[in-house]
Amino acid sequence: MIKPDGIRGNFTNQIKRVILQSGFVIVHEMMFQLDVRNVTLFYSEHSEKSFFPNLVEYMTSGPVLVMVIEKTNAIADWRALIGPTDAGKAKVSHPNSIRAMCGSNSERNCVHGSDSPQSAAREISFFFGEISPGIIEHDEL
Ligand SMILES: *[C@@H]1O[C@H](CO)[C@@H](O)[C@H](O)[C@H]1NC(C)=O
Ligand SMILES: *[C@@H]1O[C@H](CO)[C@@H](O)[C@H](O)[C@H]1NC(C)=O
Repeated sequence: MIKPDGIRGNFTNQIKRVILQSGFVIVHEMMFQLDVRNVTLFYSEHSEKSFFPNLVEYMTSGPVLVMVIEKTNAIADWRALIGPTDAGKAKVSHPNSIRAMCGSNSERNCVHGSDSPQSAAREISFFFGEISPGIIEHDEL
């Protein structure tokens, strides 16, 4: 997912270029304007945390671009490409990462990646309904 700061900062094309150059195939993509309800469901594991109101404000502040991307070892490879959660630290420790390019700090970190096959399945169906990687028809993009 490219979060609102990534879209607003005009990083979408650069991020997609990195995705494609890294051997991923973008099999599905759609823009969404999330509302409070969507963010509360999507980040339900964070709903009791102190940063949650800020997370809702951030994630509803503009559209997000959600993509289903495929390759062998996709989850680990995407997480390596985006870099550490804290984009401020990423600028120092992982200067070539996507978060170093477009993020600001641990809350405004411009992209999201699923952290396991289970969360990928949940997050894909959250946005796209009951489709699962491997059986997705390739859309005309
Ligand atoms: C956005 O980025 C593209 C290149 O990806 C560039 O051509 C365009 O001028 C930029 N637009 C703005 C408003 O910065
Ligand atoms: C977001 O929530 C609205 C209702 O508040 C719903 O209509 C919409 O489908 C939800 N979007 C997603 C991506 O879940």
